[in-house]
Amino acid sequence: MDVLRRVADARAFRASVPGSLGFVPTLGALHAGHGSLVERAVRERAAAIASLFVNPTQFGPGEDLAAYPRREAEDLAFLERLGCSAVFVPSVEEMYPPGDDTRVQPGAIAARLEGAARPGHLTGVATVVTKLFAVVRPDVAYFGQKDFQQLRVVQALAGDLRLGVRVVGCPTVRDEDGLALSSRNAYLSADERRAALALPRGLFAARADWERGERDPKRLADRVRQHAAALALEYVSVADPLTLAELTRAAERAVISLAARVGRARLIDNVLLGMDVSELV
Ligand code: PAJ
Repeated sequence: MDVLRRVADARAFRASVPGSLGFVPTLGALHAGHGSLVERAVRERAAAIASLFVNPTQFGPGEDLAAYPRREAEDLAFLERLGCSAVFVPSVEEMYPPGDDTRVQPGAIAARLEGAARPGHLTGVATVVTKLFAVVRPDVAYFGQKDFQQLRVVQALAGDLRLGVRVVGCPTVRDEDGLALSSRNAYLSADERRAALALPRGLFAARADWERGERDPKRLADRVRQHAAALALEYVSVADPLTLAELTRAAERAVISLAARVGRARLIDNVLLGMDVSELV
């Protein structure tokens, strides 16, 4: 596996791949959720490349940029075991050289939910993903449903900016107890982790209601809130999966998403109703 630290090295790698290249961008501290994306890229494309880069522009003041777990040696071994052909591990200066001040501003899809709760976050994501796509020039990029709004923002930017990258959404990988895998779960104590299970349980209870025919967005959101009553919920949203506009009446497809603070972790999760993540392009 090639470990590429410079933009020029990544470009040379891209030039050396004759067939279709799959790409999995990450912040590192890899877990089986990331692994599922990498496995799919390895399986479906002629070559797979991942990136490890804790992108400073997507962290707000007071967020966990400094504390974010960094485990490069383990991450490289993990990617190698999965059959990745290369990994791009740039420095901050390599991605944001002195004087860098161009930013990619996503549209209306980024206005609510994470965009509202974390001002500037999705602009930072859109900017770094555009840079990474420009350097790596993959044919297909794999993103997790776990960060649903991010997936939609990246799908929109790849289409709108005519980047020629297909952005594939992949299902959320969960622990046996239902908690969505996240690098930030490392911040949870055992008690906090138990409390956090109310989040997937609430989402699954709402999904069960949907399967029994419930379509009222308010009642679906209330079901999630009932389960998570003991937690500090930031939002529960029942939205259109394409536009992320809040639903005000019954629809045939929906995404229920939430954010909550549990101890010092900020957790997000979602379920898609009436459609599969693979149908989004
Ligand atoms: P990170 O949080 O490291 O996630 C990298 C990719 O893994 C994202 O596409 C994310 O949705 C996916 N992922 C995380 N947890 C998952 C899980 N439990 N199941 C399935 N997929 C999961 O998201 C980012 O990094 C950054 O914002 C990035 C896109 C790299 C830009 O900096």
